[in-house]
Amino acid sequence: AYLATVGIHVYAWRGETEEEYYRCIDEVMAYDPEVVHDDGADLIIRIHEKRPELAEKVLVGCEETTTGVIRLKAMERDGVLRFPVIAVNDTRTKRLFDNVEGTGLSTMEGILKATGVLMAGKNVVVAGYGYCGSGIAKRARGLGANVVVCEVDPVKALQAVMEGYRVMPMDEAAAIGDIFITATGCKDIVTARHMLKMKDGAVLCNSGHFNVEVSVKDLEEISVEKRRVRPYVDEYRLKDGRKLYLLGEGRLVNLVCGPGHPSEVMDLSFGNQALCARYVVRLSERLEAKVYSVPASIDRTIAELKLEAMGMRIDRLTPEQEAYLRSWRLGT
Ligand code: NAI
Repeated sequence: AYLATVGIHVYAWRGETEEEYYRCIDEVMAYDPEVVHDDGADLIIRIHEKRPELAEKVLVGCEETTTGVIRLKAMERDGVLRFPVIAVNDTRTKRLFDNVEGTGLSTMEGILKATGVLMAGKNVVVAGYGYCGSGIAKRARGLGANVVVCEVDPVKALQAVMEGYRVMPMDEAAAIGDIFITATGCKDIVTARHMLKMKDGAVLCNSGHFNVEVSVKDLEEISVEKRRVRPYVDEYRLKDGRKLYLLGEGRLVNLVCGPGHPSEVMDLSFGNQALCARYVVRLSERLEAKVYSVPASIDRTIAELKLEAMGMRIDRLTPEQEAYLRSWRLGT
């Protein structure tokens, strides 16, 4: 929004419809970009579908988020990716701060702002214990909630157990949760089967990608009445009179109902975006059409710059320590 006030062309506004959203993407595409920064891969996919000749000319795409990287790797696997993409999401300086801390904090803010609920003492069910889910669980616990984790990855589930959370399938969690938060990047995490078991007054929301994790279609189908009770809070009355509350229409609750991530983590993500684009543009040859990892030196530079900006200094390895860490000889 600020950029728009200083003369940068901005094609987005709050509350745009899906049709308007894609029209905005098309208007951006009309600039024939050579560098594309994406968040969810919609722009990159649209270029492939509607402007294949442009796809041949794009030097690099930089993808911001987990779901986008998954989609782009699927395009590479299917042999349809036409330009190189850097998986910015996969750096430590993005995931450990943006996904964990940013999503954790802004998801709580979104829920609190939308509902005014007291988190302390509530059973908060977090689906997905990846980067985002673990950050959300940590913040919910910090506010006094009893956190239950639902997972499909046994290692992640075990991690949640060892970090002190209760772990169970959604079918069981459905009956005890007060607030449900999905952060899996997958679809149909909370469906009618689960909703029908929920307590009266349960709150449902999503912080993963898109509005497919909580099945809004199912909620519409099993309810007899829907009304908006607060901004972005929809009350669904079921046949037996129970009421369920859906936040932000099942879209990202931290963006719809909350302020999004603090700029203090987005600078890390966007720093990665900028340095990755510069890295590729400065290469003498065009990279192949694949999904690339961010060079480790960029990850490290971002962390160094951030620490410097925060006024922090850290230790450095001495030459002897470096040699010690590289050596395999016993007794050295
Ligand atoms: P991740 O891959 O680290 O974590 C996802 C977790 O969900 C994994 O542990 C996986 O095993 C689990 N999972 C997958 N399917 C499941 C199912 N059916 N039931 C239960 N658990 C399941 O991914 P990350 O980085 O945590 O991202 C998660 C989603 O959040 C992605 O869609 C990503 O794009 C989105 N995201 C949202 C942000 C926001 O501002 N709200 C910020 C960053 C990412």
